[in-house]
Amino acid sequence: MRLPAAADGAGPAALPSPLGQQKVNGMGALEGKSIVITGAGRGIGRGVALLCAREGARVVVNDPGVNVDGTGHDAGPADQVVAEIKGEGGAAVASYDSVATVDGGEAIVRAAIGAFGRIDALINVAGILRDRMIFNMSEQEWDDVIAVHLKGHFNTTKPAAIMMRQQRYGRIVNFTSGSGLLGNPGQANYGAAKSGIAGFTRVVAKDLGRYGVTCNAIAPAAATRMTMQVTQEARELRARAGIGSAAPNQPPVTQAQLMRDPEMVAPMTAYLCTDEAWNVNGQIFHVAGGTVGLAHHPTPARTIWKPAMWTLDELCEAVPAQLMAGTSNPAPPPPDLDIPGRPATQPEGSIAGGAR
Ligand SMILES: NC(=O)c1ccc[n+]([C@@H]2O[C@H](COP(=O)([O-])OP(=O)(O)OC[C@H]3O[C@@H](n4cnc5c(N)ncnc54)[C@H](O)[C@@H]3O)[C@@H](O)[C@H]2O)c1
Repeated sequence: MRLPAAADGAGPAALPSPLGQQKVNGMGALEGKSIVITGAGRGIGRGVALLCAREGARVVVNDPGVNVDGTGHDAGPADQVVAEIKGEGGAAVASYDSVATVDGGEAIVRAAIGAFGRIDALINVAGILRDRMIFNMSEQEWDDVIAVHLKGHFNTTKPAAIMMRQQRYGRIVNFTSGSGLLGNPGQANYGAAKSGIAGFTRVVAKDLGRYGVTCNAIAPAAATRMTMQVTQEARELRARAGIGSAAPNQPPVTQAQLMRDPEMVAPMTAYLCTDEAWNVNGQIFHVAGGTVGLAHHPTPARTIWKPAMWTLDELCEAVPAQLMAGTSNPAPPPPDLDIPGRPATQPEGSIAGGAR
């Protein structure tokens, strides 16, 4: 936040910053940094752009203003955020290029170099949805979602990484999702892209760490038009079918749910762009309201081992008895389906333990 002059005219007052620092003489935690934020016209990206600017960053507000499904174009959202930032005394320029193409990604990074002379941080927030169960999903729906999310991260990160490597300084923050890390039904395209972004983050962190550049990812949860896209009816249908969802969109009933304002994701995102976060690299954080969680890296939860190749007979025994013991199928087949291999259910009225 740009600090107002103190009432006695003695200069700006020191206010607590959302990043947890005391601002003195108007210095923010991101003072003077040049930060590119994709998808910054709405939702989470907008909140991140506003906070970065309030913390003194010069911001490229990138957003072609598309619909949730990626169609359309509207300069309005990016222009509006730029106007808000300038209205508060900050510095920002709009960019309307799409992250979905190599040319678009380069143009977005060039916008920062052109306006501010360098790029200190890249925050990849842009996203769309084309939900469909896998058996109905079209090639177009698959390609479009992969293009914006997974390839979109490559398209902006590569040119930014070239600049950051030369500078020996940089911050990259990606946006993954519980849908990719845990799986949401009806989102094979989105979940695959978001899971890919988690892997991309870990690799880019290792590629760039030696050059003083960090790369981390956030799996957010916030009430935005994107989460409203998954209708309550669809969620209830899935629940009735026994298929769980990683991010249920229930009407807010608890304080935690009320705190799912998209701006609540901004402080941790901005923190990762500060100098203080110089040694936080290759991590994935879950951020929802007042909760910030550090994710486990996917490592084996349990192992079976023998000093030779397993036979199928051995696995038929060891997998259910040892490897899978205590785990559950997230989407089990209904009881009335004839499933080869499933033990016969106890006929109704039979004596427990009796012969089948
Ligand atoms: N809201 C949540 O709970 C949630 C959960 C998990 C992950 N995410 C991720 O967080 C990010 C932000 O989501 P949101 O909820 O704020 O959505 P949102 O729809 O409110 O905002 C996304 C913005 O991205 C822009 N965009 C879309 N395609 C683009 C492109 N090709 N190039 C540049 N910009 C483009 C849109 O115009 C839009 O303004 C997304 O990556 C999303 O997948 C959100």
